[in-house]
Amino acid sequence: MERKPLVVGNWKMELSLKAAQEVMKATKALVSAKDLSVDTVVCPSYVSLPGAKAEWEGTGVMVGAQNVHEQERGAHTGQVSVLQLQGLIEWCIVGHSEVRALTSEDDERIAQKAVLLLQHNIHPIICVGETQAERDADQTVERVTQQMEVYLRTIDRTSFHRLVIAYEPIWAIGTGNTPDPIEVSQIALLIRKLISNRFDQSVSDRVRILYGGSVKPDNVGPYIAEPGIDGVLIGGASVHPRDFVGILEQVQEIYIR
Ligand code: PGA
Repeated sequence: MERKPLVVGNWKMELSLKAAQEVMKATKALVSAKDLSVDTVVCPSYVSLPGAKAEWEGTGVMVGAQNVHEQERGAHTGQVSVLQLQGLIEWCIVGHSEVRALTSEDDERIAQKAVLLLQHNIHPIICVGETQAERDADQTVERVTQQMEVYLRTIDRTSFHRLVIAYEPIWAIGTGNTPDPIEVSQIALLIRKLISNRFDQSVSDRVRILYGGSVKPDNVGPYIAEPGIDGVLIGGASVHPRDFVGILEQVQEIYIR
């Protein structure tokens, strides 16, 4: 089954309001000069979401948030509800390791966020991946399996295909260290197998699986050339319009081939 490739830019806490507008305009100019048929999502910080929606409307580039609270309402100072994001975004990252580290949220809470997003027709991008210590102890498969089991148990069959799994080994994020693309392809295969064991192949064939962690224009090729890797989640490089669009072009090229 053909899965449309997906490229997601996670702008983290980078860029002032003004700088974010400039980067959006520059990225838009580069994107509109190409004929790109890759699903593209940009996730700026919350404050830039209204501007991003206005800027990208009608361009084919979609807007996402970097996190959401797991409840719709309540006295949760500093948090943002799905009800406040609705209408602004089509996508939302959940379970990013930087958020997990700050809030010590667990997979159960992340699964609740995904359920809530799906109820509001927003696609969750769920991040999974092992720490350096887990990798050193040869526990990568175990860790990813444990995480996936929570999502597979909590999210129902009929909406599972609408979410995206981003495999992001924590030791690869922002470090310049990257795993062998073959290893990533094996993890993608493992994730797909877990999905098909829980539901069936028609569901697992539809779920897009991304790689994330120090993705740059000069290293993206081998990842997306691997079977089962449907795109990338990009942090640092995504705030540089030429790098981001350079990655998009490579994904497009491999997809068309
Ligand atoms: P990075 O970040 O590309 O800067 O490593 C990836 C991510 O945090 O999603």
